[in-house]
Order: sequence, then C-alpha cells, then structure tokens
Amino acid sequence: MRRALLLSGVALVAAIASSLILPAAPVTQTLAFNHAKHAALTCAGCHAGIQTTARAGFPPPAVCAKCHATAPASVEPADWEQLQARGVRFWKPVTRLPEHVMFSHRRHVVLATLACASCHAVIGERAAPPVRMPMRLVMDTCVACHRAEGASEDCAGCHR
Ligand code: HEC
Ligand code: HEC
Ligand code: HEC
Ligand code: HEC
Ligand code: HEC
Repeated sequence: MRRALLLSGVALVAAIASSLILPAAPVTQTLAFNHAKHAALTCAGCHAGIQTTARAGFPPPAVCAKCHATAPASVEPADWEQLQARGVRFWKPVTRLPEHVMFSHRRHVVLATLACASCHAVIGERAAPPVRMPMRLVMDTCVACHRAEGASEDCAGCHR
C-alpha cells in the first residue's frame, strides 16, 4: 500500500514536471467550423455524449450531411472528403485533462445541471474553433467550484 502511494506520488511529480516544461501547443482544426452559424441547433444535437457518458464527443459526418449534402462553399472538397473518411476522429479536442484525472460530462451536465459555458466560456458564439482551452480548467478551478457547490473535495474522487 505504502509502495503504491509512493509510486503514484512519483507519477504525479513527473506530471507536474512535464506540464511545466511543455506548455500546451496550439491546436488547429483542418476545417474552420463555425459554432455561431449553427446556433439554431442544440449542443446535444452534435455532442450527444453529454447526456450519457463521460465524453461529450464530436458529431459524426452523418449529422453534418443532414443539412450539407456536399461541402459548404467555404470548404475545400478535399477537406470535406477527409471528414467523411475520418469521422469523429477528424476533430481534435482542445480542452483536455491529464490521464490521471477523472471527469464525467454526464455527472456535471445532467446531475449537477451546469451550463456548458461554466467550463467552456461562450464557445457557442464562436465563429472559428479555439486553438487553446477557452477556459483555464486546472485543479484550482475544479476544487473552487466543488467547494462552492458542496461537491466532493476528496483527492481520490478526481484522481485514479
Ligand atoms: C441543421 C442544419 C445544419 C447542420 C446539421 C450542420 N450545418 Fe453547417 N451550416 C448550416 C447553416 C444554416 C449554415 C449557414 C449558411 C451560411 O450562413 O452561409 C451552415 C454553415 C456551415 C459552414 C460555413 C461556415 C462559414 O463560416 O461560412 C461550414 C464550414 C459548416 N456549416 C460545416 C458544418 C459541419 C462540419 C457540420 C457537422 C459537424 C455542419 N455544418 C452541420 C446548417 C447546418
Ligand atoms: C452542428 C454541430 C455542432 C453544434 C450544434 C455544436 N457544436 Fe460544439 N463542436 C462541433 C465541432 C465540429 C467541433 C470541433 C471544431 C471546433 O472546435 O470548432 C466542436 C467543438 C466543441 C468543443 C470543444 C472545444 C475544446 O475546447 O476542445 C466544445 C466545448 C463545444 N463544441 C461546445 C459546444 C456547445 C456548448 C454547443 C451549444 C451551444 C455546441 N458545441 C454546439 C460541432 C457542434
Ligand atoms: C464542469 C465543467 C464542464 C462542463 C459543465 C462541460 N464541460 Fe465539456 N469538457 C470539460 C472538460 C474538463 C473536458 C476535457 C475532458 C477530458 O479531457 O477528459 C471537456 C471536453 C469537452 C469536449 C471535447 C471532446 C470530449 O468529449 O472530450 C466537448 C465537445 C465538450 N466538452 C462539450 C461540452 C458541452 C456541449 C457541454 C454542455 C452541454 C459541456 N462540455 C459542459 C468540462 C466541462
Ligand atoms: C462549475 C462547477 C464545477 C466545476 C468547474 C467542476 N465541477 Fe465536478 N462537480 C460539480 C458538482 C456540483 C458535482 C456533484 C454532482 C452530483 O450531483 O453528483 C461534481 C462532481 C464531480 C465528481 C464526482 C465526485 C464524487 O465522488 O461524488 C468528479 C470526479 C468531478 N466532479 C470532477 C471534476 C473535475 C476533474 C473538474 C475540473 C476539470 C470539475 N469536476 C469541475 C461541480 C463542478
Ligand atoms: C475536483 C477535482 C480534483 C480534486 C478534488 C483534486 N484534484 Fe488534483 N488535479 C485535478 C486536475 C483537473 C488536475 C490537472 C490540472 C492541473 O494540473 O491543475 C490535477 C492535478 C493534480 C496534480 C498534478 C499537478 C500538475 O501540475 O500536473 C497533483 C499532484 C494533484 N492534482 C494532487 C491532488 C491532491 C493531493 C488532492 C487532494 C488534496 C487533489 N489533487 C484533489 C483535479 C482535482
């Protein structure tokens, strides 16, 4: 038990060191998706995972095809083909947590009834994909809200 604790401590120290040395590189998407132009749709219509799973997920190409039978005018046909071929893996997540942290969308959106904007700022009004996390989601952010809302502050609740 003691040895296991010591080892996980080493892993956390390594995580701290790597996050200090390597700042998150900017993420660019192949296709300039525009959230604001799709404001008529519900968030869950494209991020279906929020209701049932840990991951919000990205929309499969079939969702886009409901309205865009072919590439919209502003998009290169080759990029549209790549989207069809790669599916949800076409999109790169910008907001990400390290492997040692547990997080569930269902828990926060369905059970805690939090708005997406409390963790993702006003992404729904953006005209272009964010290249960096729109909101700084670090341990202090998580714990500050948990304290305010009376949710668990137990280390093991968030860390594997
Ligand atoms: C419910 C219908 C609907 C769905 C579903 C939909 N779109 Fe659109 N899309 C629109 C409308 C409406 C516009 C606005 C057309 C305009 O203003 O020129 C648009 C515009 C666009 C544009 C042009 C944006 C710009 O700034 O000019 C792109 C790119 C696009 N959509 C990509 C997608 C992708 C990728 C998906 C799937 C993830 C998707 N759309 C799903 C209706 C839809
Ligand atoms: C028509 C489909 C569609 C709708 C509707 C939609 N999204 Fe998205 N969303 C996408 C696509 C495609 C991406 C990946 C490209 C990007 O980041 O713009 C994305 C990315 C995201 C991300 C990930 C950014 C990151 O930091 O990793 C968040 C958060 C997000 N959307 C929130 C929302 C919220 C909140 C709403 C409702 C207000 C919404 N989305 C509505 C298609 C959609
Ligand atoms: C309490 C904070 C919080 C709330 C509320 C929240 N998210 Fe997230 N979201 C996160 C975190 C943290 C991640 C990164 C998760 C990871 O890497 O494990 C994320 C990642 C995402 C992603 C990237 C793809 C993925 O599945 O990881 C999308 C898309 C997304 N959120 C959409 C939404 C939408 C839409 C809503 C509202 C219905 C929402 N989120 C509400 C914290 C939140
Ligand atoms: C804006 C407020 C808010 C933010 C920010 C937030 N949470 Fe939460 N979280 C809650 C609430 C409220 C609950 C209790 C939900 C319920 O009823 O189960 C919760 C529950 C949890 C649980 C379940 C805890 C347990 O054992 O019962 C985990 C794990 C968790 N959050 C992780 C995170 C992580 C990781 C982050 C940061 C990336 C985060 N949360 C950010 C409000 C928040
Ligand atoms: C509500 C969720 C939550 C709780 C509770 C929590 N953490 Fe964290 N912790 C996180 C998140 C998210 C990260 C990753 C982001 C960061 O580095 O701030 C993290 C990162 C860390 C790191 C690595 C820091 C780094 O820079 O990589 C350590 C060490 C850590 N936590 C220890 C603890 C200890 C000890 C406790 C209990 C006193 C605790 N955590 C409770 C969410 C939480």
